[in-house]
Amino acid sequence: MCGITARVGDDEALDELLTSLTNLEYRGYDSAGVALLDEDLEVCKREGETDALKRAVAEEEPSGSIGIGHTRWSTHGPPSDANAHPHTGCEGRVAVVHNGIIENYESLRTELRSRGHEFTSETDTEVVPHLVEERLTAGHDPEVAFREAVACLEGSFAIALVVEGDETVYATRKGSPLVVGLGDDANYLASDIPAFLEFTDRVVYLEDDDVAVVRPDGVDITGLDGAPLRRESHTVDWAPGDAEKSGYNHYMLKEINEQPFALRQAIEGRTDPAAGEVVLGDLPAGTFEEIDRVQFVACGTSYHASLYGVALLQRRGVPAAAALASEFAADPTPVDGSTLVVAVTQSGETADTLAAIREIEDTDARTLAVTNVVGSTAAREVDDAVFIRAGPEIGVAATKTFSSQVATLGLLAERLHVEAGDGESFDAAFLEGLERIPEAVDQILDRRRAEQVAEAYAGMDSYFFIGRGIGYPVALEGALKFKEITYEHAEGFAAGELKHGPLALVTGTSVVFAIFTGENDEKTLHNVQEVKSRGAPVIAVAPESTTGIHTVADDVIEVPDGPPELSGMLSNVVLQLLSYHAAELRGRPIDKPRNLAKSVTVE
Ligand code: F6R
Repeated sequence: MCGITARVGDDEALDELLTSLTNLEYRGYDSAGVALLDEDLEVCKREGETDALKRAVAEEEPSGSIGIGHTRWSTHGPPSDANAHPHTGCEGRVAVVHNGIIENYESLRTELRSRGHEFTSETDTEVVPHLVEERLTAGHDPEVAFREAVACLEGSFAIALVVEGDETVYATRKGSPLVVGLGDDANYLASDIPAFLEFTDRVVYLEDDDVAVVRPDGVDITGLDGAPLRRESHTVDWAPGDAEKSGYNHYMLKEINEQPFALRQAIEGRTDPAAGEVVLGDLPAGTFEEIDRVQFVACGTSYHASLYGVALLQRRGVPAAAALASEFAADPTPVDGSTLVVAVTQSGETADTLAAIREIEDTDARTLAVTNVVGSTAAREVDDAVFIRAGPEIGVAATKTFSSQVATLGLLAERLHVEAGDGESFDAAFLEGLERIPEAVDQILDRRRAEQVAEAYAGMDSYFFIGRGIGYPVALEGALKFKEITYEHAEGFAAGELKHGPLALVTGTSVVFAIFTGENDEKTLHNVQEVKSRGAPVIAVAPESTTGIHTVADDVIEVPDGPPELSGMLSNVVLQLLSYHAAELRGRPIDKPRNLAKSVTVE
């Protein structure tokens, strides 16, 4: 999705602005641009990678101490120089970058055209500089002109704007993230903290309808009506190096390898098996006593983590279900005061997931976000938030955050077991198993089996993933990861569902990855035999002590033994490595797969 950045200081802004845009590349984009303000306002923008912008900037040499920048992900109008941001008005006095969608842009365009304005792009964004320019021409000062223009807009957006002759960036947000960075020599603005993390770790999270007036020497935040607001600043505990590749070829591989550390962080200080304690954020013991059931809402990988969470809860006597957030608004599950609605979201900014939470905001249901980003919209809009503490995830394909989500949901399941289910005490064996998971992941990372298997089965037509129980969400996640970064046909199925339809797809040119967990293995083995007899090679991913598979499967990738409930976390790491190496063999752009973005901020 689009990325916004701004740098407001007394010295040249361009270098840091370009660095910030490079840091935002992971969000996915198809064009990029900057506007710099000195005495004049200069705009430079290009379709394509930020390298194209850097070449253009080297030629055109825009300069200024106040700058805004943008990476665009096309929604209104195809990728082109004209549609790239920043956009200006008729007189070129105002430049605007924007994320999100301005829903009433067509009627605004018609009105503006009737008053003589001419448009040079197909974007919804371009109405904003024209609206502001009109008000400047009418004699309003820039801040008033900005507020009045924003008041005309409907939809969800984050906007940053500069006006010729005014050393200020004006910004606002509604349903789309925007964070202020407070530096020593300059102040910053971005849609995502990694954009400016190497310049400052002091941030202020803007809320919907906040207006930020960012100057070199300070930042004022007011409501849309101009009333001053107090917004606290926070120091983020992500180190700048966390958002760098640190010698790995891809962020994805770095993040896969970070899992032992991320998992330790997710669990650290939260479990005390000996004392029988599970501490989750600020949620005091007894928080969930009124809860009868849990409803998850999430998308993509986070949805698969939620399905894992459902299995963990149901096994503990707590009724639970997971809904795809994008479907929730169409068919909301009835909820009441005894329902805990859990939004699982790495970014905390996924529009579908936010829409699902908003769908139930007028009910008595208690809401909880399980997220990676402190200060994210999801974290702010729910009753309670628990952070997975995975550190920044830059690769578009979610990896470490799935593991950290599942670990956190495991802790939540234990709390609910005791407080809302039939548990008398915490399951010490499960909690001890969870504490040993980072070490077990380390062992998997030391082996090269997934890489060898990726090579051995590189030429197949289709890749199927099957699992049962805990293995089912892992099969779904394995297929999602595989298709998203290799562009191969991949699907995940519940192992028992194969014979109800998907088996028709299985031939000698498809390969089946079967997840074994130590539970119901005989049944899964039976499903393996079904596909074997259709000529498909089978690769089992299984705990070391699993019996009966070596004579049936063509290949076996072993994971360390441990509690079956946690075995899926280990198989998942194997499947991440498999996808990574399969994508690498095919020369895919692993960190930025085509058509995909890290943070999906439109519904
Ligand atoms: C896939 C992937 C996506 C996200 C989904 C939800 O690798 O990353 O499927 O899981 O877009 O994003 P969050 O978790 O930020 O809500």
